[in-house]
Amino acid sequence: MYSLKINFEQKGLETVTLENVAADQSLLEVLLDAGIELHHNCGAVCACSTCHLYVKKGMEHIAELSDKEEDFIDRAVSPRIESRLGCQCELKAGTGEIEVTVPDQTQFLGE
Ligand code: FES
Repeated sequence: MYSLKINFEQKGLETVTLENVAADQSLLEVLLDAGIELHHNCGAVCACSTCHLYVKKGMEHIAELSDKEEDFIDRAVSPRIESRLGCQCELKAGTGEIEVTVPDQTQFLGE
């Protein structure tokens, strides 16, 4: 089980902390289940970059970056070294703290 802190770059959104987050699901699924909007225009199949987020802490608890994911991160807005695609961030079995920052999503249309 993880503790997940979610920060937002979009003005007016407050940091959210989720406790007891289970493994074997993606960060996209966790955020959507918590009612947090994270776009996923390709339907979570690693074919867009709208689910882009930054992993500030706990990268070791998340599935490894694939070449395909890296390709799509390159097309995201403002990619950084800690960039990941939320739909590809499967949580490994374990326990600890994860912290992410969600970029401003207001520029995206769609899901
Ligand atoms: S939803 Fe398209 S890459 Fe994650």
